[in-house]
Amino acid sequence: YAVHQTTSGGPGDNYYGLHVTTDVYSHNLKPGQQTSTAIWVNHVGNGVKSSLNTISIGWHIYPEHYGDSHPHFYTDWTRDGYAQTGCLNMDCPGFIRVNGAVIAPGDVIHPVSGVPGGRVQNITLRLLKDKTSGDWWVYYGLNGIPTG
Ligand SMILES: *[C@@H]1O[C@H](CO)[C@@H](O)[C@H](O)[C@H]1NC(C)=O
Repeated sequence: YAVHQTTSGGPGDNYYGLHVTTDVYSHNLKPGQQTSTAIWVNHVGNGVKSSLNTISIGWHIYPEHYGDSHPHFYTDWTRDGYAQTGCLNMDCPGFIRVNGAVIAPGDVIHPVSGVPGGRVQNITLRLLKDKTSGDWWVYYGLNGIPTG
């Protein structure tokens, strides 16, 4: 993990964006096994679980959830420690796929690294908060900078 933690009221108290480029590999995993690479923005609240406010995006291989061992692009969020809100991908209202988006949360990432003779594939992800609406925008690029 790499963590940057701030305290309430301090400088850098509010995050409005994160950006990452990460290689994507296939692994042969079985149900009960899981791997992920992600960026998170968390507000842990007052320590009570229902005050957790978090959003994360990345890729994971999660056979128990998808029934396959492919890398999937994923999103995850909650506003209340998963009491009433939040879920993986588009399993509940929250994420909206924009017209023309090349991928939706939960989709398989293709191609991936690890194929003999193949090249290393990467994805670039951006998580940006709209300061006016408070909505989070997610951008995805395969082997390059997201264009939209
Ligand atoms: C991601 O992949 C592209 C295309 O292969 C390559 O040009 C770029 O250098 C890679 N980026 C990183 C950070 O590895």
